[in-house]
Amino acid sequence: MTDLFLGNARPYGEGDPVGVLVRDGVIAELGPDATAPDGAETIDAAGLVLLPGFVDLHTHLREPGGEESETIATGSRAAALGGFTAVFAMPNTDPVADTDVVVEHVHRRGEEVGLVDVHPVGAVTVGLEGTKMAELGTMARSRAQVRMFSDDGRCVHDPLIMRRALEYASALDVVIAQHAEDPRLTAGAQAHEGVVASRLGLAGWPATAEETVVARDCALAREAGAALHVCHISSAHTVEVLRAAKAAGVRVSAEVTPHHLLLTDGRLTGYDPVNKVNPPLRTAADTAAMRAALAEGVIDVVATDHAPHASQYKDTEWQAARPGMLGLQTALSVVVHTMVEPGLLDWRGVARVLSQRPAEIVGLPDQGRPIAVGEPANLVLVDPDEVWTVRGARLASIAANTPYEGMRLPATVVATILRGRVTARNGVAA
Ligand code: DOR
Repeated sequence: MTDLFLGNARPYGEGDPVGVLVRDGVIAELGPDATAPDGAETIDAAGLVLLPGFVDLHTHLREPGGEESETIATGSRAAALGGFTAVFAMPNTDPVADTDVVVEHVHRRGEEVGLVDVHPVGAVTVGLEGTKMAELGTMARSRAQVRMFSDDGRCVHDPLIMRRALEYASALDVVIAQHAEDPRLTAGAQAHEGVVASRLGLAGWPATAEETVVARDCALAREAGAALHVCHISSAHTVEVLRAAKAAGVRVSAEVTPHHLLLTDGRLTGYDPVNKVNPPLRTAADTAAMRAALAEGVIDVVATDHAPHASQYKDTEWQAARPGMLGLQTALSVVVHTMVEPGLLDWRGVARVLSQRPAEIVGLPDQGRPIAVGEPANLVLVDPDEVWTVRGARLASIAANTPYEGMRLPATVVATILRGRVTARNGVAA
């Protein structure tokens, strides 16, 4: 493997520019005096910020079974172009990833594509039906080494099943990621329960459907001594439940999506299904609470919930449209816009929420690491000053359901590096 040399890079956007020499997938030299050896591939990183590669705990790659919306190949390209070096692929595929056979298939396909580490998430229950636990141990011990289990898209609603899953998770040293939505409270729901939904005549989705499940699960996780991860927090009230649970020593972590940092239910007035997502877009008070909790660390990470849907599922009337939004290629820009520009996070903070904490939550030894000699070269170079216009048709995903269409957003990914290999450069995946 040829050496890679990054000239004039500023790790975390701090200090004077340095040279970074990557050899055999590892950072071999780093400092003002480092120079490019003969024959090295070089990137001039003047003006760019160097960060650890991003880790997405919540991605839908749709393969197997949903290849009209995304494949592991196209989703991996989107991930590399978005600055990600590892993604966790949710199990709501067809067939569901609830056996060692399916998780090993997803893992192997990710390796074949080779643009990003694809870690399959295993289902908690067979077929995501919520009634019978899947064989978590078999999936954890498979070649895919599943570290996270979730029925995402659906809530593990039965408290007895959730209790057992957490007990198994504790014994296996894996994480249960809960889609916190009490289905009894959201039956028929179409939009955040509030003024906008009332005016539009859409059945309301109460924030308490999230908050109550998180409260219950924190109690169950405490009792089991298990690691609980809460997917896509959307309500200000949930933040207070999390804060109390963390203070009480519960092993709970939480994610927020870029869209729940930026977008509100005010966008629903045109009934454009591109804004339909689960959990729903909520109020400006909620987005403000999400931002503050992320800055404070009560919410640990940003996870994309990248949810590609082909136009036949999305360009329909509101009630029939599937929930979900693209996220991999816009995540960094939305985080910069909502968190860095207002001064809520610096670049070290961006590295914390998009790389370091996600890797810690799932125990990835080689991702989210500090930028230092001897560390694996999973890196991303960001241009903090470039502004770009989002066009769904130009994104790498097969589907084009971005809610940011036509928006001008700050910050671009100039290069993504996976174990010393450039996987994306200037908007082109390797
Ligand atoms: O909006 C969503 N879409 N939320 C989920 O939880 C599932 C996801 C999907 O699979 O499309």
